[in-house]
Amino acid sequence: MVNKKSYVAQLISLKKPAVTSASAFAPANIALCKYWGKKNLELNLPTTPSLSISLGNRGSNVNISIAAQNYLSINNQVVASTSTAFKRTFDFLNLLAPNDIKFAVQSSNNIPTGAGLASSASYFAALTLALNKLYNWQAPLTTLSCLARLGSGSACRSLYHGFVKWLNCDDPLQSYGIPLTTSWEELRIGLLIFDPTQKSISSRQAMLHTQSTSPFYKSWCENSIKDFEILHSAINQKNFQLLGETAEYNTFSLHAVMLSARPAIIYSKPSTLHAIEKVHELRCNGVQVYLTQDAGPNLKLLFLEKDLAYISNFFSELEVVSPFAKVDNWAP
Ligand code: DP6
Repeated sequence: MVNKKSYVAQLISLKKPAVTSASAFAPANIALCKYWGKKNLELNLPTTPSLSISLGNRGSNVNISIAAQNYLSINNQVVASTSTAFKRTFDFLNLLAPNDIKFAVQSSNNIPTGAGLASSASYFAALTLALNKLYNWQAPLTTLSCLARLGSGSACRSLYHGFVKWLNCDDPLQSYGIPLTTSWEELRIGLLIFDPTQKSISSRQAMLHTQSTSPFYKSWCENSIKDFEILHSAINQKNFQLLGETAEYNTFSLHAVMLSARPAIIYSKPSTLHAIEKVHELRCNGVQVYLTQDAGPNLKLLFLEKDLAYISNFFSELEVVSPFAKVDNWAP
């Protein structure tokens, strides 16, 4: 079996940094069809295909510079060297940029960190893009997506704007994000953030726990493959109802399979259930709004521009993202 080091060697040749500091931005992405399980833990290969939408100018800005000692800050807060975030960052850097070089990494997210809003996806994608500049790898995006995947699986989809799919293939060199060509200007994503605090259990731990303990995990995978196909065609046809219904169904299937793990994983809070009820109430009143929820209590709403005023009025705390709006200075 290929290990991480030999895998990286197939993708890039390690060399000396070309400059001493580099920065990059990558958008966060929200999965409409979720990645939840690994068939290869070492290389972060998924058990199912997934499909996401990137959040435009919402994501992570990362600066990396050569330093006297390893240092990480997130949103101007120094991260302890004993923390998981520090370990994951420097394990990743040791893999991609070895030779005892030390780095200072500064990340700032304009989405809440670790609250199920995919901040680790945008973080590892931006870090990979910054490394590409620091080392002047001039690597294609498919290669950078494969590298970002080693930091966090969902990061491989954060190298692009718009809809991105990540297929379940056996060849790790082909396991990268693939952008879809469809642009859907009217689509809106509403972030309903009632709990910006760090989640109690990381998505990594939770997905492995679900995979190894839920008796329904196999059904989740089978359903997910169908959801992926339906979502793909809903996007091709720009069929919003089909997109929303399927994304919401995929979310509830995900949280159901987590509930069936032993012990159960529950990310929802009373405020989550209350908001779900409100979304369903709106739909009963004829408003086309759907929800999706990841490894955290917060919801993301899917709707079209025509319903923006009504929905924003209903959810006063909603932060609205236009995923297809032009993003300035985006040059991955
Ligand atoms: C619920 O990509 O954070 O957001 O590969 O272990 O780092 P690791 O997991 P991660 O899992 C994301 C889970 C999800 C669904 C998704 O983004 O597809």
